[in-house]
Formats: sequence, structure tokens, C-alpha cells
Amino acid sequence: MITLAISKGRILEEALPLLSRAGIEPEEDPRSSRKLVIPVDDREFRLLVIRAQDVPIYVEHGAADLGIAGKDVLLEQGSLNLYEPLDLGIARCRMVVAGRQDRSSHGKRPRVGTKYAETTRRFFAKRGTQVEIIPLSGSMELAPQVGLTDWIVDLVDTGNTLRANGLVVLDHIADISSRLVVNKGSMKMKHSAIGAVIDRLAAAASAAAVQAAARG
Ligand code: ATP
Ligand code: PRP
Repeated sequence: MITLAISKGRILEEALPLLSRAGIEPEEDPRSSRKLVIPVDDREFRLLVIRAQDVPIYVEHGAADLGIAGKDVLLEQGSLNLYEPLDLGIARCRMVVAGRQDRSSHGKRPRVGTKYAETTRRFFAKRGTQVEIIPLSGSMELAPQVGLTDWIVDLVDTGNTLRANGLVVLDHIADISSRLVVNKGSMKMKHSAIGAVIDRLAAAASAAAVQAAARG
């Protein structure tokens, strides 16, 4: 039995066609099912549907052999003891510093609102910029509008959310996409089965990339 942890929402939406291409067909639609453990047709596989931030934790502890996690979550959680063999090329976006056009900041130590406190701390420390990090859990774009923070660190895809809230990108931190992560023990103990899944997913991801490029 191989267990794959995945999060509902954006990653699941984009991962389902990839899983299907790799021959992994859930018995129920995980987008609508209330089940948290979803069997897969061949019964040698199952999906765990959990919160995005929890995927690396389940995989690191061996509760799942494999997981699909955003690079943002992996960066934030830092030195995780797991393998990251594959960039699946889905849920692509960028992690940026955003703020008002004039970069206005109050005082010597700008306040930065984010749910990526650790990544933000590392980014500004590397630059030698002193900031005060204000931990938030969502809707970061609101914080500069109401004077809670000077800047935010958040994900941007189309830029629509920033634009709608009068903010612009000030700095690029990282390109983000979803990665396949693997428990180290599972890689040893279930080497051939996991190797085969990685190969199937790698083939599915590159076929999807070729198709996307052809579409322009
Ligand atoms: P939860 O709802 O569990 O708190 P979340 O709000 O982070 O988690 P999603 O918005 O579905 O859940 O994001 C999950 C992952 O999708 C993120 O970790 C990131 O890798 C990616 N992602 C987030 N926003 C975007 C976006 N605008 N475009 C593309 N990918 C994104
Ligand atoms: C994500 C992110 C931005 C938005 C960016 O939020 O946190 O707010 O997408 O996408 P865009 O550049 O295409 O507008 P999401 O929609 O996941 O909501 P959340 O803040 O609840 O996570």
C-alpha cells in the first residue's frame, strides 16, 4: 500500500489530471467527498486529503509515503527530513514582497505582514534589512491598506489580488510550484513501488508541460 498526502483546493485541482495521467484514479472525487482517506482504483494506493501546511509533516513522520506540497510550504518549514525528487510544475506562482507603489514605510523598521514568517525573516536578514514581522494567516493584501503593515510577503499569480488592493510587487523572493515529496524510510523500504510512481508522475508532468507549451 502506498499513501499519498495532498491538500484540497488549488493543488488538488491541478494534481488530479496529473494523477489520472499517471494511472492513479481515486474511487471517489476527493473535491466533493467528506472522506479524508480516499482509496484508489487499484487498491494499492490511497490518498490522504489534508491541509497544505500539514502535507510535509505527514510525509516526514511516515504517515504518508508521498506528498504533493507547495514549494512555499517547503521553504517555510525549512530543514525537513524528506526527499524532494520532482517538480510537478503545477500551482505555479511567485512569492513576492508587495506594498504601495512609493515603497512607503513608517520608521526605520518596516512592518511586514505574512503567513511565511520564517521565509520572510531569512529574505530580509540576507539583505541586511531590519523588519518587524507581523504573522497573519490570510488576506494579507488588506494589511497595508489599513496601516497594519508597510509591506506584505505573499503569493502572486495573475496579480489581480494585488491590483484590486492598490499594491504592487516590490521584490521577488522565489518561484513557486508544487513538488513531490517522499518519506526517506519509504524510499528504502518500498523502493521499487515508489520509484515506479515517481517515474509515472515525472512522465505525466513532462507530458503536461509539452501540452501547455504547444497551447502557448
Ligand atoms: P488552507 O486553505 O489549507 O489554509 P491555502 O489557503 O494556502 O491553505 P490554497 O490557496 O489552495 O490553500 O493554496 C495551496 C497552495 O497552492 C499554496 O501552498 C501554493 O503552493 C499554491 N498557491 C497558492 N496561491 C496560489 C496562486 N494564486 N496561484 C497558484 N498557486 C497558488
Ligand atoms: C492566493 C494568494 C493571493 C492570491 C494571488 O490567495 O494568497 O492572495 O492567491 O493570486 P492572484 O495573483 O492570481 O490574484 P488565495 O486565493 O489562495 O486565498 P487565501 O488568501 O485565502 O489563501
